[in-house]
Amino acid sequence: MLPILVICVLLPLAASVFLRMVLDSTQDGQEPPPVDLPMPFIGPIIRMWWMGFDYYRKHRQFPIYTIRLPGIRLYVVNSTSLISAVQHHPRTLSFSPILARVAATLIGASDAGCEVLGDDAENGFIRRFHDFNHSSLSTGPGLEVIRTRFWNLVTSSHSRQFLESPGFTGMYQWISHEVMLATSESMYGAQNPFRDSATRAAWQFVEPPLPP
Ligand SMILES: *[C@@H]1O[C@H](CO)[C@@H](O)[C@H](O)[C@H]1NC(C)=O
Ligand SMILES: *[C@@H]1O[C@H](CO)[C@@H](O)[C@H](O)[C@H]1NC(C)=O
Repeated sequence: MLPILVICVLLPLAASVFLRMVLDSTQDGQEPPPVDLPMPFIGPIIRMWWMGFDYYRKHRQFPIYTIRLPGIRLYVVNSTSLISAVQHHPRTLSFSPILARVAATLIGASDAGCEVLGDDAENGFIRRFHDFNHSSLSTGPGLEVIRTRFWNLVTSSHSRQFLESPGFTGMYQWISHEVMLATSESMYGAQNPFRDSATRAAWQFVEPPLPP
């Protein structure tokens, strides 16, 4: 009887002490504070599974904190004032795994799509997206092309036709239509999916409270 009792008490205790030592020796002092310390690595898995989103609510007293899981660190940003500072470091911090999961849940991205979004490599989608889009959309010739295309569309005859069309309901509808077409056209170019009225209708259906 005694040995079983000893095992039941001592084993978790020893595991906890050992895992805490592993955590302490691998956690840098400059990283956000780690949470869930009584049973590092294992405790967070069980509690995240058990509590779901409430797990994150429990640690709201920290502006930012670290959840240590086996092989990964999750830095959770709670304070809104830290978000832009975090977003300025796409090379130090990896957003891809989270993005792939969000895409799967929110927009029903396919497995292949999630794989593309989750690719963390140097020439992966997210890295390239940041580099290309940052340079294209900074002040300069790229942005100028987009801006010119936008104004050409807003002042085009197509826009006037829409104003005079029978289904026209008012100013808000006109502005939504123009902004959606002009921004999507200037970003996507010839392959703009929003040229298709079915895509526009689907978008309005899915996101009615969002401006296009
Ligand atoms: C964390 O977020 C909650 C909800 O937005 C907020 O009430 C709380 O003050 C935040 N905590 C810190 C430390 O910023
Ligand atoms: C943004 O990045 C994507 C992915 O790399 C690229 O296909 C697209 O052309 C870029 N758009 C702009 C405006 O640079």
